[in-house]
Amino acid sequence: MPPNASFDLKQYARKHARIVDQALNKLLPSARTKPGTIHRAIRHSLFAGGKRVRPILALAAAEACGGEIENALPVACAVECIHTYSLIHDDLPALDNDDFRRGRPASHKVFGEGIAVLAGDALLTQAFELAAQAKPTPRYPVSDMILDLAKTSGSLQLIAGQVADLEGEGQKLTRSKLQYIHERKTSALLTCSARLGGMSANCTPTQLQALTDFGYHIGLAFQVIDDILDVTQTSEQLGKTAGKDEAADKATYPAVVGLKKSEQIAKKLTDKAFTALQPFRGKAVALEAMAHFLLKRKN
Ligand code: FPP
Ligand code: MG
Repeated sequence: MPPNASFDLKQYARKHARIVDQALNKLLPSARTKPGTIHRAIRHSLFAGGKRVRPILALAAAEACGGEIENALPVACAVECIHTYSLIHDDLPALDNDDFRRGRPASHKVFGEGIAVLAGDALLTQAFELAAQAKPTPRYPVSDMILDLAKTSGSLQLIAGQVADLEGEGQKLTRSKLQYIHERKTSALLTCSARLGGMSANCTPTQLQALTDFGYHIGLAFQVIDDILDVTQTSEQLGKTAGKDEAADKATYPAVVGLKKSEQIAKKLTDKAFTALQPFRGKAVALEAMAHFLLKRKN
């Protein structure tokens, strides 16, 4: 499906990213709050120019369900905190050992490994503090939102993906094992972002299912595209070290099925994401535009 030509996603994303940044800045301890090192470390990674895909997705899902941005902000900030924590820990020498992230030196390069571990821990905890500040709606108590976030971040989803990724290094993986990793490591948090945005807007069960299907498919597409970009883009374009997957002998879509087939898979997944939005009857324009943009993204 072609994107809605009259919808300006660039402007939408810029405006919503600014709203998320302001909320994060207000809700998290300032860099001067003691102990200063940890708060500087948190902010180094959190305000390093990430695309804010997950919180914008949460806000767009809320709007598609007729909700207020204000009510979606606590969960939107929470998913960005989980995401940033996972990146800080992923870059540690014990995991992917990367020196660059979001165009800056990785947390452990600036603050040392100990503080980087703790900055990740603090952000993970902060996410639940933020989610707990969400407003309940008639259909969803705050405990439902916290449960969703906890399940997504736990040992059956995000952590499971990371474990399988770690243990799969240097091994020849099947496409289905690779899909297992991508579903958990990346798709789960994008799905959760869309769902929490919907819940904050008191979405109907049909809308929640649509957002779940949408999040799943763009999430999987997002990671397939991430794999593709790792081989097609430069480090400067990505803001992180390019070509790392191959160097680490990691199973990726291009490595397992080839570049061309990976591109076809990403396109197919994006089409499925569009189809999932049918219950919104053309009213989820921002979500549609995001899916289109994520397919075409270059970083
Ligand atoms: C890039 O997101 C990141 C991903 C595609 C997710 C990768 C998943 C992990 C590293 C899981 C790590 C998990 C643990 C538990 C350590 P992006 O392109 O949205 O990055 P941006 O926010 O910097 O723009
Ligand atoms: Mg990794």
